Amino acid sequence: MFRTAVLLALPLISYGDDSALLSKSRALTAEYATQLQAALQEALSAGGPVAAIAVCKEQAPQIESVLSQTHSANIRRTSLRYRNPANAPDDWEAAVLELFATTDQREFFEETDSGEVHFMKAITTGAVCIACHGQELAPEIEQALNESYPNDLARGYNPGDIRGGFSVTWTAD
Ligand code: HEC
Repeated sequence: MFRTAVLLALPLISYGDDSALLSKSRALTAEYATQLQAALQEALSAGGPVAAIAVCKEQAPQIESVLSQTHSANIRRTSLRYRNPANAPDDWEAAVLELFATTDQREFFEETDSGEVHFMKAITTGAVCIACHGQELAPEIEQALNESYPNDLARGYNPGDIRGGFSVTWTAD
């Protein structure tokens, strides 16, 4: 209830498929997804899932900061059931993630009257994700995750579940 109220209370200035920033947001999230998937696949085939944890832990934030700087935006991953508390959603992101969880909507774009533009795109759980986010984890993965993420909420997913979302913020220039 609270989160829905937050979402509805947000000043929604424009929502249009023709916005240049909407296309840029889509391109940016696609680029991030491609880079991360490639790094993940490479690490999985080279060293297996335990070694690949480093990709999600260290490389993902690096890719985020390079892309954010290159595009003068802020891009991140977030989830209602996050593994790393640093990826916890803010109120706006939580409301959009709630929308993804309860409707068929998979993208959200909004321009506020202060000139800030926000975009989110749902991230779906794929088969490759299950090794580290699934119902039953291999003991060595569970152990490695427990060490770095004692309060891990990001387990128990099935393929097709919404794992979280990409979140992009463009600040007015
Ligand atoms: C090798 C293990 C591993 C695999 C495979 C993996 N992840 Fe993760 N994932 C992690 C770790 C570790 C983190 C925490 C990263 C951090 O510290 O920011 C994480 C974080 C995330 C986050 C950020 C929110 C959060 O929970 O902190 C999302 C979203 C996410 N993963 C989605 C996916 C998706 C989608 C896939 C499949 C394409 C996937 N992951 C595959 C280990 C994995």
